[in-house]
Amino acid sequence: MKKLAAAVTGILLILLITGLQDLSENQVRAGNESDEFEYEYYYNDTDNGEDVMDSISPTGNPAAGNGAGAINTAPDSIKVFVNKEYSLPEDYVPDNLIMPDIKFYSYDVPDKRYMRKEAAQALEKMFDAALDDGITLYGVSGYRSYARQKEIYNSNVLARGKDETNKVSASPGHSEHQTGLAIDISSYALKGSLSEEFGTSAEGLWVAKHCAKYGFIIRYPKNRENITGYSYEPWHIRYVGKKTAKYIMKNGITLEEYYGYIPSKSSKDEIISDAQ
Ligand code: DAL
Ligand code: ZN
Repeated sequence: MKKLAAAVTGILLILLITGLQDLSENQVRAGNESDEFEYEYYYNDTDNGEDVMDSISPTGNPAAGNGAGAINTAPDSIKVFVNKEYSLPEDYVPDNLIMPDIKFYSYDVPDKRYMRKEAAQALEKMFDAALDDGITLYGVSGYRSYARQKEIYNSNVLARGKDETNKVSASPGHSEHQTGLAIDISSYALKGSLSEEFGTSAEGLWVAKHCAKYGFIIRYPKNRENITGYSYEPWHIRYVGKKTAKYIMKNGITLEEYYGYIPSKSSKDEIISDAQ
């Protein structure tokens, strides 16, 4: 009888200790989750399928080993660099375009509603998170073919001349929209328009604050016209993957600075004149 009582006590003790361990693990997990939620930018998350950054400089100096490596020119990479100097091949079309399950402001041109799969999925998460915070975002224009960009650029040139156009519109082959990784977004209050007001609206402020968590950056920030070559576009977000996005947004830099891009002489002249 004594042996039975000792055995039962032993089993109860084991159950108690195991239960306590489970509880403390759950508490730690819950603690981490809430830390992550509060902490705007965190670096140690894993990001399946993302290009790996070797290391991240704690100094915030992109030249001090941010892991960017050489400028990425592979059209299929989520870190591909596209600007006034670096272009995509005319026949480049991403092979995994899908329609993100988000609200669009207009449904009249289906072609504008595609994005590359990884960017589309990240965008869905971001739009859902915004909605949880009471913010309704609308997609306006995602993927654009080379031919479509050519139409847009040429009609802009006709309407406002080349110099003005070059401040706001990329020439064909030079638009990030052709990568399938960029999308323009807007709000109901702005009637789906792409204007600077978006940057100070509740929707625009939410996007600027949270987009990096989902792998997006504001590609053409304010007062960086002389670096990017384009006017401020708070509505144009570009998917680069979480780690890179967090690095760029936390340090308030552009993709040009991230890559340590130095314009070639002719391109520099063009960027500076465009940005005036
Ligand atoms: N508005 C951006 C620069 C584009 O045309 O791709
Ligand atoms: Zn855009």
